[in-house]
Amino acid sequence: MKETSVYDCTILELHKHHNDQKGNLTVVQSDETVPFQVKRVYYLYDVPGGEDRGSHAHKNLKQLIVAASGSFSVTLDDGKVKRTFMLNRPYQGLLVAPGIWRDLYDFSSGAICLVLASELYDADDYIRDYDSFLEYKEVHP
Ligand code: TYD
Repeated sequence: MKETSVYDCTILELHKHHNDQKGNLTVVQSDETVPFQVKRVYYLYDVPGGEDRGSHAHKNLKQLIVAASGSFSVTLDDGKVKRTFMLNRPYQGLLVAPGIWRDLYDFSSGAICLVLASELYDADDYIRDYDSFLEYKEVHP
């Protein structure tokens, strides 16, 4: 696997089709807007105030994380450097490289965290223990 750091993760500005009367529309296209083929979409919602999500890394999965509604914070960690992003615009997406630990928190009431993912669900792709993640990054920096 390619080495990854938090600097491989970035905010993508997604095109907003704006109509004064009818509102907005944002589209994400596989291999175009995002640098991977989108194989799976899931979303987090009804996250109670004060609850955290994430707290894991993926070995191979690439993701685009969008605050489709409301806001939340994401801290990314490559084992050496942490970067925190506050997502609160439906026309921005956080591109997350493989091999990055992520914590999602500070969900606003009604927040929807939309995730576009490069692979189908695979429980074996998860690293859920932080010490195991640090060991994994020693081998796959
Ligand atoms: P998890 O990825 O741990 O959620 P989070 O990181 O947001 O806290 O997933 C929560 C549960 O949902 C877990 O039991 C696995 C299941 N799940 C699927 O079955 N398919 C999926 O695509 C995802 C993302 C999760």
